[in-house]
Amino acid sequence: MTDNQENTDAEDASPSGSPTLPLRPPCDRLPCHKSSVCSRSYFVVVMVFFHVYIINVIALLFYVHYSSGQEDASSSSDAPTGGGQPQRSEARRPSPSKPDFVRDVSLTRIEGIRVGHVQKVSLVPGRVHEMKTLSLKPLLFEIPGFLSEDECRVVMQLAQLKGLMESQLMVQEGQEELAKELDLSPEEIFNLLDINQDGQLQLHEILTHSRVRDGIWLTPENLREIYDGLKADKDGDGLLSQEEFRLLSSDAFQRFLLERGVKRSQLVRNSRHTWLYQGKGAHRVLQEIKERVTRLTRLPAALVDLSEPLQVVRYEEGGHYHAHHDSGPTSCRYITVLFYLNSVDGGGETAFPVADNRTYDEVSLIQNDVDLMDTRRNCDKSNLRVKPTKGMAVFWYNYLSDGRGWVGEQDEYALHGGCVVTRGTKWVANKWINVDPDYQRQARYQQLVSQLPDDENDDDLPSNADVQNPSIHQDL
Ligand code: OGA
Ligand code: CA
Ligand code: CA
Ligand code: FE2
Repeated sequence: MTDNQENTDAEDASPSGSPTLPLRPPCDRLPCHKSSVCSRSYFVVVMVFFHVYIINVIALLFYVHYSSGQEDASSSSDAPTGGGQPQRSEARRPSPSKPDFVRDVSLTRIEGIRVGHVQKVSLVPGRVHEMKTLSLKPLLFEIPGFLSEDECRVVMQLAQLKGLMESQLMVQEGQEELAKELDLSPEEIFNLLDINQDGQLQLHEILTHSRVRDGIWLTPENLREIYDGLKADKDGDGLLSQEEFRLLSSDAFQRFLLERGVKRSQLVRNSRHTWLYQGKGAHRVLQEIKERVTRLTRLPAALVDLSEPLQVVRYEEGGHYHAHHDSGPTSCRYITVLFYLNSVDGGGETAFPVADNRTYDEVSLIQNDVDLMDTRRNCDKSNLRVKPTKGMAVFWYNYLSDGRGWVGEQDEYALHGGCVVTRGTKWVANKWINVDPDYQRQARYQQLVSQLPDDENDDDLPSNADVQNPSIHQDL
């Protein structure tokens, strides 16, 4: 044992100081020293390896130098190179600069931690606000006392001064054209609506896809009335077969609704509203609210500056807004900040029917004639309701994150509506923060606006600087 150990030690020890360490032991075992041919070939092999190694290192250095030179050249010119030569695009492809840039300028998402979690936020000098997490799906917070009583009063007065208009007109034109545009046969429509494919249309199957007709909100009772009026459900089983469905052509449907007359309470939205500009020159209170929203959301000031004006809404007694998504294909509203400008005497809560539901299923929003999106009837069945309290703000994200710091998928749980006001009036204001889901387009837009020779844009200078110097966004 000891001998063996000594032997191995000796073997290990002998080449330890030598630079040709890995090559020598096999050579020692061979009778190399006895043949000069062997030692020469050994030398040749070593030299070949050595040269190949050196050449590799030099080639690598050249490659690194060459590709970083290309990168510098491409990033130093902002203008697109246009020509699109394959050689150039190949040289650019390994460049990580573009995706990394997108990640640098990311949209802050405030952490909800858990429902009921309260975090302190600094929104106005010398005062600390408390922000409570109301739900995680959607990510929703409330901030009591976000606006002072005076600020609430000023916003309502400014809105009245400007004049409010009907949020929804009674009769909406153009629906007929839409039906023609669809270009689907009654059979095709029937098959699309028949979710469970049982060859019959249940009430909820029709309502799931066509709750709103000509701006009118249909309830299961309305639909039954329409069946009766048009004598569509011949066998009176409450279901529509293919043949029965044909009698309910969209024309007849529309004519029936118009003949019957429409009440305000049947509209999707029963309120009046106006828009208040918040840029330079606007009332001090409006500008301050915008700045406070920037601090609250921790988003780049330029994003908030370029968003829609403040929408002020007034609901009379009996007013409501059925459940909806604030954002859609035509306007990307990343965040909604909703302010309550007064405390409502009765009703008027903001309802989130599916907040923090385990799952979301559009079809199960209507079950057994209970339509969770109907805020005149079923607010009590909503998962979450926020009571309007003067000065309080709630805000939520209408989109999930894409995981890379920009806008991802729309958050279906952000479905919400205004419950019917049972006593008094209700005043709210909406501040929507618009973000283009396409980051590059957003960047181009901001850059364009910042370059406008707009002398009223003085106070936008910091935001322009943000746009021109992306590094400012990095610590957001
Ligand atoms: C809205 C809205 C809710 C409410 O105006 O988009 O959802 O409580 N309002 O008034
Ligand atoms: Ca069916
Ligand atoms: Ca039937
Ligand atoms: Fe809304």
